[in-house]
Parts: sequence; C-alpha cells; structure tokens
Amino acid sequence: MPRYNNSQWKQSMKLKYDFNNMLEGKVDVASQHPSFQKKVGAITREDLEKAMPALEKARRSIARKWGRPSKMMAWAKLPYNQKTVVKDILAAAQSIRRNFTHLVVFGIGGSALGPIAVQQALNHLRYNELPDDKRGGPKLYVEDNVDPERMAALLDVVELDKTCFIIITKSGGTSETMAQTLIAFDLLKRTLGEGAIARQVIAVTDKAKGNLAKIAAEYGLKKFVVPDGVGGRFSELCPVGLLPAAVCGIDIEELLAGAAYMDELCREEDLTKNLGYMAGLISYLSMKKGKNIQVFIPYSDALKYMSDWFAQLWAESLGKKYSLRGKVVHTGQTPVKALGVTDQHSQVQLYAEGPFDKVITFLGVGDYRTTYAIPGGFDDMPSVSFLSGHTLNELIQSEQYATEMSLTHAGKLNQTITLPEVNAFTLGQLMFFQQVQTTVCGELLGIDAFDQPGVEEGKINTYALLGRPGFEEEKKALDAQQKKEAQYIL
Ligand code: PA5
Repeated sequence: MPRYNNSQWKQSMKLKYDFNNMLEGKVDVASQHPSFQKKVGAITREDLEKAMPALEKARRSIARKWGRPSKMMAWAKLPYNQKTVVKDILAAAQSIRRNFTHLVVFGIGGSALGPIAVQQALNHLRYNELPDDKRGGPKLYVEDNVDPERMAALLDVVELDKTCFIIITKSGGTSETMAQTLIAFDLLKRTLGEGAIARQVIAVTDKAKGNLAKIAAEYGLKKFVVPDGVGGRFSELCPVGLLPAAVCGIDIEELLAGAAYMDELCREEDLTKNLGYMAGLISYLSMKKGKNIQVFIPYSDALKYMSDWFAQLWAESLGKKYSLRGKVVHTGQTPVKALGVTDQHSQVQLYAEGPFDKVITFLGVGDYRTTYAIPGGFDDMPSVSFLSGHTLNELIQSEQYATEMSLTHAGKLNQTITLPEVNAFTLGQLMFFQQVQTTVCGELLGIDAFDQPGVEEGKINTYALLGRPGFEEEKKALDAQQKKEAQYIL
C-alpha cells in the first residue's frame, strides 16, 4: 500500500502556511508612530473581514470555470484524470531507462521550469555526477535556452546514440524549441540515420494543433499529450513534468497524490481555514497595500528551483495590463528569487532596511532528509566552538527563524510555507497550493491569470528579424527603427 493511503502519514505531511507576520499587531509593533504604521501596511482584521465576500465570489467564479477547458482550469483535474496516461508514462520511462544513458529535455518556460524544479527537489542534489548504478535513471539535461555555447557544451557531454530527446511544447511552435528540434533531428539524421529519430525522440505537445504534432505524426514519434485547458505554467502535473520525472525514478503517483490532497484542503468550506484561498487573499491584500515585490526564499537547496517555477507562475499569471472588463489596470507583483541562507549575505540587508515595498515568502523544511552534525574543534575559540554539538540542520533552521524575526521587527511583511519534509507528496501539495493561490489572486484582481499577451510582441519581432514568412511589414518597421537608434549607440 502506498504510504499516502495511510491517513496518519498523510496528515503528518500536510503543508503549513503561516501568515502571522503579515498581520497588524505582529509586524507593526516596533513603533506606534503613524508614519511607521503606514509604511508597514500590515493587513488588518478589518481588511480580512471586508474581503471575505469578494473571496466567496472568487470561489464561485473559479468553480464555474472548473473543468471547462476554454477557461484554462483543466490543471485542477490532473491529480484525478490521468490513470491511463500515468501507466503509459511509467512504461515509456522504463524503456528509456533500459535503452539510454542520457536524457535531454528541450522546452522553455512552463515546458521546462517544472521538470527542473522537481528533479532538483526529489533527486540527489548531484544526480548527474552519481555513478550509473546509484542514479534512478539516465543523466538529465533540461535545456531551456538557446545560448549557442550551452548547446555546444551539451553536445560535448552527451553520447548521441545513447541519448533520448524529449521535446516539450504545448503550442508546438515556440521558436526556441523548434530551433532545438531542428538541431536534434539534423544531428541524429547525419550521425545515426533517419531511423534514429523515431527511436530516440519523444514529443510532448497538443493532441493535434501545432508543428510538433505534425512532426510527430510525420516521423512516427512516440507522443504524449498536453491536455486542453492546461496552460504552460500550470502543466507540471501532466506529461510535461511527469514524463521526465518518471524517467529519473521519481514517484509520479505520489506527486499526484500530494496534489490531490492539497485540492481536498483547498475545498475547505470555511474560507478562513482554506490554505490556497487565504494565501491568494493575503497576496491580493498585500498588493493593494503597495507591496509590488514578492521575494521567494526557500531554505533548502532541494527547493532552490521552486523559486524559478513560482516566479514564472506568479509573474506571467498576474502581470496584466487589462482587467477582464477591458480596463487598464497594470496589475502584478514582481517575483524575486532568493535562496536561504545564501542570500542572507546578499539581499537580506535590503529587505530589512530598504523600502517597504515587499512581501518576503519563506519556504522552510521541517525535517531535512539528512542530519549533519557539526564536529568539535577550535576549543580555544568560543566564537567558533559554540557551533560544535549542533547540526547544520539546526543552523539553517535557526537562521531562517532569526531572519523571519528580524524582518518582522523591521516592519517587513513576511509569511512562511513549511513542508514537513521534501518528498513527492509534499512537493505535489506545494505546486498545487501555489497554483490555487495564483488563480485566487488573479480572480480577486479581476484579470485573466491564464493568458500572456505581453510576450506576443517580442515573439513577433523575433519572427520578423529572422525572416519568417508573413512578417515582412514588421521587419521593415524594425529595420527603420534600428537605423534611427544608431546615433545613440556609442
Ligand atoms: O506559461 C506559458 O504558457 C508559457 O510560459 C509557455 O510555457 C512558454 O512560452 C513555452 O510555450 P510552449 O510550451 O508552447 O512551447
């Protein structure tokens, strides 16, 4: 019986969301001076009470969108509707593990950040460097950039005939991923013959739309589908994330079970006790109080790339010019990625003493998977030897707590998410929690959290610059612009 079927274990693994340090009477007590109180912008009991009807309305609106693919809420069903897909993924993963020593994932944005974050969180921190018999699967390279030096470096380290390529693109036409696809196909064809393509390339894309779906059909590639209504940044729990994770030996069924558990918690009727809804509301209220920045700081190397995944989710979903009613609103909260304790020695000075424009979200771990004792020594130096007898676990946790306290004392809004430990079940909860939080916050802001119109212009300019047919006018305009700007480039 999987451990997540044991209700005691499940409860012991529940994610905790603590927003005490966002509230009046906690974060604003260093001074009663009105100017300090105003700068702190603590969330008051009255703010919370007043916002409850809006939160209730948001819940009804989200419930109406649930399951209607056009409303992009299909991600919420992923913990439940993938039994067959999971079976297929596990079979493919086994075959990849048997036949390949290297796995290259080509994709970008929502098609890469989840796989990177999950791999970092759930596999050995030096996974690729482990000897073959100690790794859960092939070496993994998730390539989410088109830097030519990175491509050359990748090709220096993989063994082409032992490399499986997973190409992930929901739209099927993202230029960066298509460029990578062209390179992989060309290399395989030239080096191993055209037949290698079908043997070594797997596509993850829309069921029918887009270039990758066409290419997959033409070359007879094994294909996994990104379901309708699941947007890129909400796609980690479908084949986009599940396939690479399964190949590397991660328990994807436990990941989905964790997401299902969080879904259950976010169905709590009493919204004041509902984790995802309260987190969305607290963020929304902080934005209303001018907190335009959210620093996300995991105190765990395993959770380091959760910051990248969350940054995309938060930025692309909430950064919008127009409301759903077409009003210009310019919403959003800039995510900043940080790592505890490393960035205590880099950014925390700013957070403690700089402007009152941020919320700092700590991501802590109850029990680290390893305990590391700090040995004795330097007995004649009390300012060093006091560390002896403690553990690195105590040190990192004390530093997190101490930083939370000092920021609170400085009047800086902060909140803490804690995972009892880092495992597939708690990670599934965390990802689902943050997706609910983002959806709720978007709903309260009255914007579409699932589109990204702001990145379109940049894509069009790239097409024009590289001569894609149909973009000739844009190319002319860009050439004229570049000519005009030349005088200011020294
Ligand atoms: O969240 C999103 O939809 C985007 O960030 C996409 O994930 C990103 O642009 C990549 O798109 P695609 O998967 O279609 O290649």
